Amino acid sequence: MTLQVSNSPFTEKQVQLLNELIPNLTEQQKIWLNGYLSAPIQVIAKATEVQELPASQQTVSATILYGSQTGNSQKLAEKFGALLEGNSVQVDVSSMLDFKFKNLKKLDNLLIITSTHGEGEAPDNAIPFYESLHSSRAPKLPDLNYAVLALGDSSYEKFCQTGADIDIRLKELGANQLLERVNCDVDYEEAAEQWFEVISNTLLPSNSTKQPEISRNESAYSKKNPYQAEIVEKINLNMDGSNKETYHLELSVEGSDIAWQAGDCIGIYPHNQQDIVEELIEAVGFSGKEIVQYKNESLPIEVVLKNYLEITVLTKPLIEKLVPYTTGADELLDGKWKEYKEGRYVANLLKDYNFTGSPQEIVDVLRPIPPRLYSIASSYIANPDEVSLLIGKVSYTAHDQQRIGVTSGEISEQLEVGDTVSIFLQENPNFKLPDAKTPIIMIGAGTGVAPFRSFIEERAEQDAGDSWLFFGEQHFLTDFLYQVEWLRYLEDGVLTKMDVAFSRDQEEKIYVQHRILEKAEEVYKWIEDGAVIYICGDEKTMAKDVHEALIQIIEQQEQISHEKAEEKLVTLQREKRYQRDVY
Ligand SMILES: Cc1cc2nc3c(=O)[nH]c(=O)nc-3n(C[C@H](O)[C@H](O)[C@H](O)COP(=O)(O)OP(=O)(O)OC[C@H]3O[C@@H](n4cnc5c(N)ncnc54)[C@H](O)[C@@H]3O)c2cc1C
Ligand SMILES: Cc1cc2nc3c(=O)[nH]c(=O)nc-3n(C[C@H](O)[C@H](O)[C@H](O)COP(=O)(O)O)c2cc1C
Repeated sequence: MTLQVSNSPFTEKQVQLLNELIPNLTEQQKIWLNGYLSAPIQVIAKATEVQELPASQQTVSATILYGSQTGNSQKLAEKFGALLEGNSVQVDVSSMLDFKFKNLKKLDNLLIITSTHGEGEAPDNAIPFYESLHSSRAPKLPDLNYAVLALGDSSYEKFCQTGADIDIRLKELGANQLLERVNCDVDYEEAAEQWFEVISNTLLPSNSTKQPEISRNESAYSKKNPYQAEIVEKINLNMDGSNKETYHLELSVEGSDIAWQAGDCIGIYPHNQQDIVEELIEAVGFSGKEIVQYKNESLPIEVVLKNYLEITVLTKPLIEKLVPYTTGADELLDGKWKEYKEGRYVANLLKDYNFTGSPQEIVDVLRPIPPRLYSIASSYIANPDEVSLLIGKVSYTAHDQQRIGVTSGEISEQLEVGDTVSIFLQENPNFKLPDAKTPIIMIGAGTGVAPFRSFIEERAEQDAGDSWLFFGEQHFLTDFLYQVEWLRYLEDGVLTKMDVAFSRDQEEKIYVQHRILEKAEEVYKWIEDGAVIYICGDEKTMAKDVHEALIQIIEQQEQISHEKAEEKLVTLQREKRYQRDVY
């Protein structure tokens, strides 16, 4: 074989050298050379170590770990992960639960995105990581760069506590903070995007930084662009004589692109009650017609207060902002604010401490009304045109005044069939059905039963495995939510078992956790047979007590220590066989 200069890309000199070399090669040498030349150019460069990649092509690696209960942090982590990947960063995105803690010291760049739940507690899927990080066995991390994005709600006393704790601990372990932690309030989107922009500029070599395109939500309707859904059904499911009002609401989503999965939530943007708006306007001596600027619009202050701003929650950050416009409210700052804020609205403070500011100043210090989440109580597969919710009316007396919840109050007292509500879909990847054949145990009290109605509606459409519902409320006669439906599902075999706990129908209080303990052996057998356990509803009491009951069952049935039983529950959680949607 000889090469001709005229039809090859080589110079005359190269052709001469090749023509000397090739005829003298053995078959084995020819095969080796063939493979060598057909390998990717970068591999050859690496193998021979003759050529270093320019800085712009070196691989940066980053791990994004999220702790998320209702999906916000997870969604951000996934979005930012995809954007970094698009910029040639080698990215691993994982929940803290799925992350192997012993790999922490092998990482170069760690991005933490976490919310806070309970009263300053870590979200469920962050707990084991949080505990390992704070244990005495946590490794020193001098080679780790990190940054923390903390999601939270400033109406909670322990605002963004989990993010703050992780940040402080990583610093203690010697890790290098890439940028100051950013704490985000309920309207977290913009702050999160800004955090990410700084991070991507920090991680990527300056000459290769493509300004990341923040992907827009694919669906037409979103949290930023809510859908106006018409109420097609509204029924109070409690009977006369009940202490409660719990509304079954059906919203038409026909023609919208809202497609949910069982376990997801709907977010509702509420409006403040007219009389609470008037109370505030009166407290500061305005007429309500004063024009203010809100998001590039000029509007009367009464319109802005009714539709856009939170006026029913007093928080420490808000009190701090209001102090300069009041007389004497600084006395609250040394701790008195905790007691003062209970059951009081913004109007109370402005009246008690004589507001001296302008209409614009009050608008500038208030935060937007956060949307409220409601578990979806119907299946998309069964009926994609209507979405059902189960909304408990919040009602109480404080300082001799009757108060109602902003959203549940508006739904129960002001809105009727034919009216519309502003909604968006909030996906919840942490509360999902397994495949149809897997048995499920559903534990819920009060409105906590809502997602289980969507679970069962969905499984009624499938050839599904066993299902067991534990339901709790106050009274059998007045509070048995969806009673007729559950009984029909039991009769049809869609629901295999149901146990109820009506706490106030007898002298001693009986709650769902008592029923679970009564059936300990059987519950354990279901778990051993692969059942997925779900808890939904009140976090402070029910969910904590049920969690303890489950540990107790495992402890007793396996004759192991409390600690070992807790570990087993964490393993179940890791395997997505123990899921909670608690609030
Ligand atoms: C993931 C998730 C799913 C949810 N699913 C559902 C659901 O399916 N159904 C449902 O009904 N709710 C559900 N919720 C709760 C819901 O989002 C709202 O928090 C609830 O409806 C109250 O909102 P509101 O606007 O009516 O009341 P708000 O105006 O927010 O008022 C509630 C506040 O009033 C105060 N308050 C209440 N009682 C008293 C009292 N006795 N004394 C003094 N102050 C008091 C407390 O500060 C409380 O935070 C869910 C929450 C989450 C996070
Ligand atoms: C039941 C409950 C408890 C919460 N407790 C806190 C808290 O103690 N501190 C805080 O800053 N935020 C708290 N939040 C607000 C969440 O952190 C916030 O909604 C966040 O965006 C949720 O993100 P996630 O969906 O990733 O969990 C709480 C929210 C809920 C529903």
